[in-house]
Amino acid sequence: GKKKSLEIQPELIQNIAWGHVRTQVLATAVELDLFSAVHNGNGAVEKIARNLNLPLRSTRMILDALVGMGLVGKTRGLYKLEPEARTFLLRGEPGYLGAFLQFDEFSRHGWSALTHTVQSGKPLSEFVLPDYRKKFFQELVKRIFPLSYASSIALCKKLGIGKKLKNQKILDVGCGSAAWSIAFALADPQAQVTAVDFPEVLEITQNFVQRFRLQKQFELRGGDFHTLPFPAESYDAVILGHICHGEGEAATRKLLKKSYDALKPGGKLLIAEFIANDLRSGPELPMLFALNMLLFTEHGDVFTTKEMRRWLSFVGFKKIASMAVQYPVTVIAATK
Ligand SMILES: C[S@@+](CC[C@H](N)C(=O)[O-])C[C@H]1O[C@@H](n2cnc3c(N)ncnc32)[C@H](O)[C@@H]1O
Repeated sequence: GKKKSLEIQPELIQNIAWGHVRTQVLATAVELDLFSAVHNGNGAVEKIARNLNLPLRSTRMILDALVGMGLVGKTRGLYKLEPEARTFLLRGEPGYLGAFLQFDEFSRHGWSALTHTVQSGKPLSEFVLPDYRKKFFQELVKRIFPLSYASSIALCKKLGIGKKLKNQKILDVGCGSAAWSIAFALADPQAQVTAVDFPEVLEITQNFVQRFRLQKQFELRGGDFHTLPFPAESYDAVILGHICHGEGEAATRKLLKKSYDALKPGGKLLIAEFIANDLRSGPELPMLFALNMLLFTEHGDVFTTKEMRRWLSFVGFKKIASMAVQYPVTVIAATK
């Protein structure tokens, strides 16, 4: 039968409406390093509050909110981290995502313009000024390092980098922090990487490369990847890590062709993206991310595997495979 109006609850809408509160609770817990305090203590709220020098009442309240959100568990009054929090929210752990979670001015400002942007169909003009973009990327690439790096470690394992595939020549296009190629260079000490980005961003790249002591394996090349020529048939792998969504269809297809020409026969193009399903009805994150592209770029969007496959076959790629790495990233690997 038909649902009576009392049986239809506004739960979905209420949950969405409180989404920004969830973001802030997580950001505050990260800022106060509450997760380490829960992990290191015996789980008693008194001890957690004392260790952090916080009032008991507010500590109990934020811990209970984290329990409600599913990040912390509570049994017989004692708090304990759930596995996701233990893996990704403990400061100093390799998987730590805390730095990425700090809600920055760039995104606050951008999202507050959403109504205007949906009405105009165009990003605010300030967001597409070259100087703004370079500053934005300098900040962004530091924050997304742990995301791309974790995905790249998983990708290298799947591809057999340093085992089946050694001595690789790699081109990392729009390298940012070089998170993708750093994992390749560590897995394959014979690998040689050419990393391309704007000169301003390469200052950040250089810090990361030095941090991992990989200077000998890296050559940094400053410039605009639209106009910078790539040498023909020179690379075993070309990496496009979170590049295509910012470019849109036309520029992406040009980059795919340019990457194809730069690859040796048998070489692989590796594209990391938030991929939408073929109907563009989900998953939720790629659908939200498309709006992020509407806000900050002129032509950006998310794409489906089907679209990517069509464009890749069109420029001549043969074997095309897609693999899930760290959520929510998919890597599409296409062989020349
Ligand atoms: C979303 S970030 C991705 C960084 C890195 N590949 C990753 O996955 O972590 C995009 C990168 O592409 C660079 N970029 C964007 N447009 C570019 C262009 N036209 N020429 C060179 N680099 C560009 C940005 O500076 C930024 O570092």
